[in-house]
Amino acid sequence: MYVLGIESSCDETSAAVVLMEEGKREILSNIVASQIEIHRLYGGVVPEIASRAHIEAISRITYEALDTAGITISDVGCVAVTSHPGLIGALLVGVNFAKSLAFAHGIPLVAVNHVKAHVAAAYLEYPTLKPPFTALVVSGGHTSFYSVKTHTEFCEIGATRDDAAGEAFDKIGRVIGMPYPGGAAMDALAKEGDANAIKLPSPAIVGDNADFSFSGLKTAALNYINGERQKGNEPSHADIAASYTKVIVDAIVKKTSYVLDSEKTAQLVLAGGVAANSHIRGALEQLCKKRGVEFCRPSLKLCSDNAAMVAAAGYFEYLEQNFANTSLNASANDDGN
Ligand code: KG4
Ligand code: ZN
Repeated sequence: MYVLGIESSCDETSAAVVLMEEGKREILSNIVASQIEIHRLYGGVVPEIASRAHIEAISRITYEALDTAGITISDVGCVAVTSHPGLIGALLVGVNFAKSLAFAHGIPLVAVNHVKAHVAAAYLEYPTLKPPFTALVVSGGHTSFYSVKTHTEFCEIGATRDDAAGEAFDKIGRVIGMPYPGGAAMDALAKEGDANAIKLPSPAIVGDNADFSFSGLKTAALNYINGERQKGNEPSHADIAASYTKVIVDAIVKKTSYVLDSEKTAQLVLAGGVAANSHIRGALEQLCKKRGVEFCRPSLKLCSDNAAMVAAAGYFEYLEQNFANTSLNASANDDGN
Protein backbone atom coordinates (compact mmCIF):
# COMPACT_ATOMS: atom_id res chain seq x y z
CA MET A 1 0.00 0.00 0.00
CA TYR A 2 1.22 3.50 -0.80
CA VAL A 3 1.14 5.68 2.31
CA LEU A 4 1.35 9.45 1.87
CA GLY A 5 3.02 10.97 4.94
CA ILE A 6 2.69 14.65 5.84
CA GLU A 7 4.81 16.39 8.48
CA SER A 8 4.66 20.02 9.65
CA SER A 9 5.19 19.91 13.42
CA CYS A 10 8.10 22.35 13.63
CA ASP A 11 10.32 23.94 11.00
CA GLU A 12 10.33 21.36 8.20
CA THR A 13 7.46 20.90 5.76
CA SER A 14 7.69 17.38 4.45
CA ALA A 15 5.70 14.92 2.34
CA ALA A 16 6.67 11.38 1.45
CA VAL A 17 5.32 8.34 -0.37
CA VAL A 18 6.29 5.05 1.21
CA LEU A 19 5.33 1.60 -0.03
CA MET A 20 4.48 -0.38 3.11
CA GLU A 21 3.61 -4.04 2.94
CA GLU A 22 4.26 -7.10 5.11
CA GLY A 23 8.07 -7.37 5.17
CA LYS A 24 8.51 -4.61 2.59
CA ARG A 25 9.25 -0.91 3.07
CA GLU A 26 10.28 1.27 0.16
CA ILE A 27 10.67 5.04 0.33
CA LEU A 28 9.59 6.31 -3.09
CA SER A 29 9.93 9.97 -2.18
CA ASN A 30 10.72 11.99 0.94
CA ILE A 31 10.66 15.72 0.17
CA VAL A 32 11.71 18.10 2.94
CA ALA A 33 11.40 21.90 2.67
CA SER A 34 13.47 23.26 5.52
CA GLN A 35 12.74 26.67 7.03
CA ILE A 36 16.07 26.78 8.87
CA GLU A 37 17.43 29.68 6.79
CA ILE A 38 14.38 31.80 7.68
CA HIS A 39 14.49 31.08 11.44
CA ARG A 40 18.29 31.44 11.58
CA LEU A 41 17.82 35.23 11.39
CA TYR A 42 16.08 35.07 14.79
CA GLY A 43 18.29 32.43 16.44
CA GLY A 44 15.39 29.98 16.83
CA VAL A 45 12.02 28.92 15.45
CA VAL A 46 9.44 31.73 15.33
CA PRO A 47 6.09 29.90 15.51
CA GLU A 48 4.04 32.36 13.44
CA ILE A 49 6.64 32.47 10.69
CA ALA A 50 6.80 28.67 10.73
CA SER A 51 3.03 28.37 10.24
CA ARG A 52 3.07 30.79 7.32
CA ALA A 53 6.00 29.01 5.65
CA HIS A 54 4.20 25.66 6.01
CA ILE A 55 1.11 27.12 4.31
CA GLU A 56 3.24 28.34 1.42
CA ALA A 57 5.02 25.01 0.96
CA ILE A 58 2.60 22.22 1.81
CA SER A 59 0.67 21.82 -1.42
CA ARG A 60 3.76 22.08 -3.63
CA ILE A 61 5.72 19.64 -1.46
CA THR A 62 2.89 17.09 -1.42
CA TYR A 63 2.45 17.06 -5.19
CA GLU A 64 6.23 16.93 -5.61
CA ALA A 65 6.27 13.84 -3.38
CA LEU A 66 3.57 12.18 -5.50
CA ASP A 67 5.32 13.13 -8.77
CA THR A 68 8.71 11.90 -7.56
CA ALA A 69 7.12 8.62 -6.50
CA GLY A 70 5.54 8.33 -9.95
CA ILE A 71 2.00 7.96 -8.59
CA THR A 72 -1.13 10.09 -8.41
CA ILE A 73 -3.32 10.82 -5.40
CA SER A 74 -5.78 8.09 -6.47
CA ASP A 75 -3.04 5.46 -5.95
CA VAL A 76 -2.65 6.44 -2.27
CA GLY A 77 -4.10 3.92 0.20
CA CYS A 78 -3.73 6.00 3.33
CA VAL A 79 -2.86 9.59 4.28
CA ALA A 80 -0.85 9.84 7.51
CA VAL A 81 -0.34 13.20 9.17
CA THR A 82 1.52 14.34 12.29
CA SER A 83 -1.16 15.70 14.62
CA HIS A 84 0.88 16.03 17.85
CA PRO A 85 3.10 17.06 19.62
CA GLY A 86 4.65 20.22 18.15
CA LEU A 87 3.94 23.86 17.46
CA ILE A 88 0.17 24.16 17.33
CA GLY A 89 -0.02 26.58 14.38
CA ALA A 90 2.49 24.54 12.39
CA LEU A 91 0.68 21.24 13.09
CA LEU A 92 -2.67 22.75 12.09
CA VAL A 93 -1.39 23.41 8.58
CA GLY A 94 -0.49 19.76 8.00
CA VAL A 95 -3.61 18.42 9.71
CA ASN A 96 -6.02 20.63 7.75
CA PHE A 97 -4.27 19.98 4.45
CA ALA A 98 -4.27 16.21 5.06
CA LYS A 99 -7.92 16.22 6.09
CA SER A 100 -8.98 18.10 2.94
CA LEU A 101 -6.92 15.84 0.69
CA ALA A 102 -8.11 12.61 2.32
CA PHE A 103 -11.79 13.50 2.40
CA ALA A 104 -11.86 15.08 -1.05
CA HIS A 105 -10.43 11.87 -2.53
CA GLY A 106 -12.09 9.36 -0.18
CA ILE A 107 -8.78 8.07 1.24
CA PRO A 108 -8.49 6.78 4.83
CA LEU A 109 -6.74 9.25 7.15
CA VAL A 110 -4.66 8.43 10.24
CA ALA A 111 -3.20 10.76 12.86
CA VAL A 112 0.41 10.19 13.89
CA ASN A 113 2.33 11.06 17.05
CA HIS A 114 5.57 12.79 15.99
CA VAL A 115 7.68 11.01 18.64
CA LYS A 116 6.37 7.59 17.61
CA ALA A 117 7.12 8.56 14.01
CA HIS A 118 10.78 9.19 14.91
CA VAL A 119 10.93 5.62 16.26
CA ALA A 120 9.06 4.27 13.21
CA ALA A 121 11.90 5.58 11.01
CA ALA A 122 13.79 2.49 12.18
CA TYR A 123 11.23 0.16 10.54
CA LEU A 124 12.17 1.63 7.16
CA GLU A 125 15.79 0.54 7.43
CA TYR A 126 15.48 -2.51 9.70
CA PRO A 127 12.61 -4.41 8.03
CA THR A 128 12.84 -7.30 10.50
CA LEU A 129 12.58 -5.00 13.55
CA LYS A 130 9.42 -5.80 15.52
CA PRO A 131 8.17 -4.77 18.99
CA PRO A 132 8.78 -5.32 21.82
CA PHE A 133 12.00 -3.29 21.95
CA THR A 134 13.39 -0.23 23.71
CA ALA A 135 13.70 3.20 22.09
CA LEU A 136 15.56 6.36 22.99
CA VAL A 137 14.22 9.49 21.30
CA VAL A 138 16.59 12.47 21.43
CA SER A 139 15.39 15.53 19.56
CA GLY A 140 14.90 19.26 19.90
CA GLY A 141 11.84 18.68 22.07
CA HIS A 142 12.34 15.22 23.63
CA THR A 143 14.87 13.09 25.47
CA SER A 144 12.86 10.02 26.43
CA PHE A 145 13.15 6.27 26.78
CA TYR A 146 10.22 4.10 25.73
CA SER A 147 9.27 0.51 26.06
CA VAL A 148 7.73 -0.07 22.63
CA LYS A 149 5.04 -2.67 23.33
CA THR A 150 3.45 -2.83 19.88
CA HIS A 151 3.84 -0.75 16.72
CA THR A 152 1.34 1.74 18.14
CA GLU A 153 1.59 1.35 21.93
CA PHE A 154 4.49 2.97 23.80
CA CYS A 155 5.19 3.17 27.52
CA GLU A 156 7.54 5.93 28.74
CA ILE A 157 10.33 4.60 30.96
CA GLY A 158 12.06 7.89 31.65
CA ALA A 159 12.50 11.36 30.20
CA THR A 160 14.05 14.75 30.70
CA ARG A 161 12.41 16.71 33.48
CA ASP A 162 13.06 20.03 31.76
CA ASP A 163 14.82 20.83 28.48
CA ALA A 164 15.69 18.37 25.72
CA ALA A 165 19.21 17.42 24.62
CA GLY A 166 18.76 19.12 21.21
CA GLU A 167 17.70 22.35 22.84
CA ALA A 168 20.72 22.11 25.16
CA PHE A 169 23.10 21.70 22.20
CA ASP A 170 21.43 24.55 20.29
CA LYS A 171 21.50 26.92 23.28
CA ILE A 172 25.23 26.65 24.00
CA GLY A 173 25.98 26.52 20.26
CA ARG A 174 24.25 29.88 19.94
CA VAL A 175 26.23 31.38 22.86
CA ILE A 176 29.50 30.46 21.13
CA GLY A 177 28.33 31.95 17.84
CA MET A 178 26.95 29.01 15.88
CA PRO A 179 24.02 29.63 13.57
CA TYR A 180 20.70 27.99 14.57
CA PRO A 181 20.40 25.06 15.06
CA GLY A 182 23.86 24.51 16.51
CA GLY A 183 23.59 20.74 17.15
CA ALA A 184 25.42 19.50 14.07
CA ALA A 185 28.12 22.20 14.34
CA MET A 186 28.66 21.33 18.04
CA ASP A 187 29.07 17.70 16.98
CA ALA A 188 31.83 18.59 14.50
CA LEU A 189 33.59 21.08 16.79
CA ALA A 190 33.60 18.65 19.75
CA LYS A 191 36.02 16.46 17.77
CA GLU A 192 38.63 19.22 17.90
CA GLY A 193 38.54 20.05 21.62
CA ASP A 194 39.63 18.61 24.97
CA ALA A 195 36.64 16.84 26.52
CA ASN A 196 38.17 17.14 30.01
CA ALA A 197 39.02 20.84 29.78
CA ILE A 198 35.92 22.16 31.55
CA LYS A 199 34.16 20.56 34.51
CA LEU A 200 30.42 20.52 33.97
CA PRO A 201 27.55 18.86 35.91
CA SER A 202 26.02 15.66 34.58
CA PRO A 203 22.50 15.90 33.13
CA ALA A 204 21.77 12.38 34.46
CA ILE A 205 19.39 12.47 37.42
CA VAL A 206 21.00 10.64 40.35
CA GLY A 207 19.48 7.25 41.25
CA ASP A 208 17.80 4.26 39.67
CA ASN A 209 15.80 6.03 36.99
CA ALA A 210 15.99 6.89 33.31
CA ASP A 211 15.58 10.64 33.76
CA PHE A 212 17.63 13.64 32.75
CA SER A 213 17.78 17.34 33.55
CA PHE A 214 19.59 19.60 31.10
CA SER A 215 18.77 22.99 32.59
CA GLY A 216 21.54 22.90 35.25
CA LEU A 217 24.10 21.86 32.65
CA LYS A 218 23.04 24.71 30.34
CA THR A 219 23.32 27.24 33.17
CA ALA A 220 26.72 25.91 34.28
CA ALA A 221 28.12 26.15 30.74
CA LEU A 222 26.66 29.63 30.34
CA ASN A 223 28.15 30.77 33.67
CA TYR A 224 31.55 29.41 32.67
CA ILE A 225 31.47 31.22 29.30
CA ASN A 226 30.24 34.49 30.82
CA GLY A 227 32.77 34.25 33.65
CA GLU A 228 35.64 33.87 31.20
CA ARG A 229 34.32 36.70 29.03
CA GLN A 230 34.09 39.00 32.06
CA LYS A 231 37.77 38.29 32.69
CA GLY A 232 38.45 39.35 29.12
CA ASN A 233 39.08 35.80 27.83
CA GLU A 234 37.21 34.15 25.01
CA PRO A 235 37.18 30.49 26.08
CA SER A 236 38.09 27.80 23.56
CA HIS A 237 34.91 26.97 21.64
CA ALA A 238 36.23 23.53 20.77
CA ASP A 239 36.91 22.74 24.45
CA ILE A 240 33.41 23.91 25.37
CA ALA A 241 31.84 21.77 22.63
CA ALA A 242 33.95 18.74 23.60
CA SER A 243 33.39 19.03 27.38
CA TYR A 244 29.67 19.75 26.97
CA THR A 245 29.22 16.85 24.57
CA LYS A 246 31.13 14.50 26.87
CA VAL A 247 28.83 15.03 29.87
CA ILE A 248 25.76 14.60 27.65
CA VAL A 249 27.12 11.42 26.04
CA ASP A 250 28.20 10.00 29.42
CA ALA A 251 24.74 10.67 30.88
CA ILE A 252 23.02 9.06 27.89
CA VAL A 253 25.27 5.99 28.16
CA LYS A 254 24.65 5.74 31.93
CA LYS A 255 20.88 5.93 31.60
CA THR A 256 20.81 3.63 28.57
CA SER A 257 22.81 1.07 30.59
CA TYR A 258 20.22 1.30 33.34
CA VAL A 259 17.38 0.87 30.83
CA LEU A 260 19.03 -2.08 29.07
CA ASP A 261 19.41 -3.77 32.48
CA SER A 262 15.88 -3.08 33.65
CA GLU A 263 14.14 -3.82 30.34
CA LYS A 264 16.25 -6.82 29.30
CA THR A 265 15.73 -5.78 25.71
CA ALA A 266 17.33 -7.41 22.67
CA GLN A 267 17.10 -4.28 20.51
CA LEU A 268 17.66 -0.58 21.09
CA VAL A 269 16.34 1.99 18.62
CA LEU A 270 17.96 5.43 18.67
CA ALA A 271 15.74 8.09 17.05
CA GLY A 272 15.20 11.85 16.69
CA GLY A 273 17.31 14.70 15.30
CA VAL A 274 20.02 14.40 17.99
CA ALA A 275 20.39 10.71 17.07
CA ALA A 276 22.52 12.12 14.23
CA ASN A 277 25.19 13.04 16.81
CA SER A 278 28.32 11.05 15.99
CA HIS A 279 29.51 10.93 19.63
CA ILE A 280 26.18 9.57 20.88
CA ARG A 281 25.97 7.05 18.01
CA GLY A 282 29.52 5.85 18.63
CA ALA A 283 29.09 5.51 22.40
CA LEU A 284 25.78 3.66 22.15
CA GLU A 285 27.16 1.43 19.41
CA GLN A 286 29.92 0.34 21.81
CA LEU A 287 27.54 -0.10 24.72
CA CYS A 288 25.14 -2.26 22.67
CA LYS A 289 28.02 -4.34 21.34
CA LYS A 290 29.23 -5.01 24.90
CA ARG A 291 25.72 -5.99 26.00
CA GLY A 292 24.91 -8.11 22.94
CA VAL A 293 22.00 -5.81 22.07
CA GLU A 294 21.16 -5.02 18.42
CA PHE A 295 21.60 -1.27 17.87
CA CYS A 296 19.14 0.15 15.33
CA ARG A 297 19.89 3.73 14.35
CA PRO A 298 18.28 5.14 11.23
CA SER A 299 20.49 6.94 8.70
CA LEU A 300 20.94 10.67 9.24
CA LYS A 301 18.27 11.77 6.75
CA LEU A 302 15.68 9.68 8.57
CA CYS A 303 16.72 10.98 12.03
CA SER A 304 15.75 14.61 11.42
CA ASP A 305 12.11 15.56 10.81
CA ASN A 306 10.78 13.97 7.62
CA ALA A 307 7.50 12.58 6.34
CA ALA A 308 8.72 9.05 5.47
CA MET A 309 8.83 8.29 9.21
CA VAL A 310 5.27 9.65 9.52
CA ALA A 311 4.13 7.36 6.71
CA ALA A 312 5.80 4.37 8.43
CA ALA A 313 4.09 5.11 11.77
CA GLY A 314 0.81 5.81 9.96
CA TYR A 315 0.84 2.41 8.25
CA PHE A 316 0.66 0.68 11.64
CA GLU A 317 -2.14 2.99 12.81
CA TYR A 318 -3.94 2.01 9.59
CA LEU A 319 -3.47 -1.71 10.31
CA GLU A 320 -5.00 -1.09 13.77
CA GLN A 321 -7.86 0.76 12.03
CA ASN A 322 -7.17 3.87 14.10
CA PHE A 323 -8.79 6.10 11.51
CA ALA A 324 -9.25 9.83 11.94
CA ASN A 325 -12.26 11.78 10.70
CA THR A 326 -13.03 15.39 9.88
CA SER A 327 -13.02 16.28 13.59
CA LEU A 328 -9.27 15.51 13.82
CA ASN A 329 -7.51 18.38 15.57
CA ALA A 330 -3.86 19.20 16.20
CA SER A 331 -2.40 19.29 19.69
CA ALA A 332 0.83 20.72 21.07
CA ASN A 333 0.91 18.03 23.78
CA ASP A 334 2.55 14.62 23.88
CA ASP A 335 -0.74 12.82 24.57
CA GLY A 336 -2.62 14.60 21.79
CA ASN A 337 -5.08 16.21 24.23
O1 KG4 B 1 13.99 15.65 15.60
P1 KG4 B 1 14.34 17.01 15.12
O2 KG4 B 1 14.68 17.19 13.67
O3 KG4 B 1 13.22 18.01 15.48
C1 KG4 B 1 12.45 17.86 16.63
O4 KG4 B 1 11.49 17.05 16.61
O5 KG4 B 1 12.83 18.51 17.64
O6 KG4 B 1 15.58 17.48 16.03
C2 KG4 B 1 16.19 18.73 15.84
C3 KG4 B 1 17.33 18.83 16.82
C4 KG4 B 1 17.97 20.22 16.86
O7 KG4 B 1 18.09 20.61 18.20
C5 KG4 B 1 19.34 20.00 16.22
O8 KG4 B 1 20.34 20.88 16.66
C6 KG4 B 1 19.63 18.60 16.66
O9 KG4 B 1 18.41 17.92 16.47
N1 KG4 B 1 20.70 17.95 15.90
C7 KG4 B 1 21.86 17.54 16.46
C8 KG4 B 1 22.66 17.00 15.42
N2 KG4 B 1 21.95 17.11 14.25
C9 KG4 B 1 20.75 17.69 14.58
N3 KG4 B 1 22.28 17.58 17.74
C10 KG4 B 1 23.51 17.09 18.02
N4 KG4 B 1 24.33 16.57 17.06
C11 KG4 B 1 23.94 16.50 15.77
N5 KG4 B 1 24.75 15.97 14.84
ZN1 ZN C 1 11.27 15.65 15.43
